[in-house]
Amino acid sequence: MDKIIIHGGRRLKGEVQVSGAKNSALPLLFATLLAPGEHRITNVPSLRDIATVEKLLTILGATVQRQGDLFAVDATHIENNEAPYDLVRTMRASVLVLGPLLARLGQARVSLPGGCAIGARPINLHLKGLEAMGAKITLDHGYVEAKAKRLHGARIYFDLPTVGGTENLMMAAALAKGKTVLENAACEPEIVELAQALNKMGGQVSGAGTDTVTIEGVNELRPLEFAVMPDRIEAGTFMIAAAMTRGDVRITGAIAAHQDALLSKLREAGAEIVMEEGAIRVRGPRRINPVNLKTRAFPGFPTDMQAQFMAMMTIGNGSSVVTETVFENRFMHVCELQRMGADITIDGRTATIKGVKELLGAPVMATDLRASACLVLAGLAADNTTEVSRIYHLDRGYEKIEEKFKGLGAHIERVPE
Ligand code: EPZ
Repeated sequence: MDKIIIHGGRRLKGEVQVSGAKNSALPLLFATLLAPGEHRITNVPSLRDIATVEKLLTILGATVQRQGDLFAVDATHIENNEAPYDLVRTMRASVLVLGPLLARLGQARVSLPGGCAIGARPINLHLKGLEAMGAKITLDHGYVEAKAKRLHGARIYFDLPTVGGTENLMMAAALAKGKTVLENAACEPEIVELAQALNKMGGQVSGAGTDTVTIEGVNELRPLEFAVMPDRIEAGTFMIAAAMTRGDVRITGAIAAHQDALLSKLREAGAEIVMEEGAIRVRGPRRINPVNLKTRAFPGFPTDMQAQFMAMMTIGNGSSVVTETVFENRFMHVCELQRMGADITIDGRTATIKGVKELLGAPVMATDLRASACLVLAGLAADNTTEVSRIYHLDRGYEKIEEKFKGLGAHIERVPE
């Protein structure tokens, strides 16, 4: 296993290109299961989670060929309907095969993912929705078994906006008989992109990006040709890196409309934001202002940026309060930041961060993807050497992160542990 060593304290400068969005590429790749034929998806990032999807699609019977960022998926012969525990446990998003497999094959058997480092993360709302569409769902030795000769349309109200639940049901409803209406649906840009992709395949989806998504089921879909949008969380991570290091970074491919909440909080923190053609440029202030925030479903402040933003608040000029409302256990980075000299206290879902003058490099490790990114950011701003281990989490969601930071002038390297 590798670790990342950072000699912090350098101001980051220059230009960095954002890769394709992990959380959009995942549902798009699973959507290929809906239609026989060869699908071509480009701008797919090279990540561990994407390799897991590749494995899963292959197990199900698809043929996958990768050429750079192009994924050619031949989904003509989908013979297997089981997503095994070994894969689902390494990537929870594997449950997104449930909707497409059920719609295409009439049955699916998918391992229940169980809890993870950031919370319990049940899939009850996915299952409730599929049941409303006529699926018979049973639980068998840790697996969800779903059956339905053909799903039918339904009006489904989500108790809370779930990104994966909305995606799973949109894919299932695309081939169902009749109209499905998803209420209190998630509004994330990844949902909008999935709707665009389904419509390109011949589906009839409207309202994506609002809290009501309507899907008129069709009898068949055709193969997809699609380019994945830039990753808003990766882009946001670079923005914070620029702000924290008093840097000046042009983030190419970042889409401002996906970043309203983050950009507003970055401005509050004192960063200068300049919108440029095809890029967002961020210049860091001399000293970070303290900022309070609460994570929310889109368009609120993304939970996937909470850890990174907190890293920045640790060197703020005063006290900040960060409240995590989406996941119940997403403060695992706090103890590691404390080891670097951060002054943070937690009370339930609220963290109070008293800014310190500087962070001190230390050996640290994290238990999830965004927490790992937060530690890299802390290391970039810290005064001496930080070693981040267990970086397989980072490799799940950030493409060539150390190379990209190196390109901005960071003193960072990956070494075998
Ligand atoms: C997606 O996870 C993302 N993953 C997560 O990104 C992201 O943090 C999350 O959305 C929220 O934005 C992918 O897109 C692959 P949810 P998802 O269903 O779909 C509860 C990252 O770092 N809930 O919107 O699993 C759930 O427990 C990852 O890239 C239920 O109670 O999230 C949570 O509290 C981590 N029952 C809330 O809803 C359900 O059936 C939101 O979860 C489903 C969800």
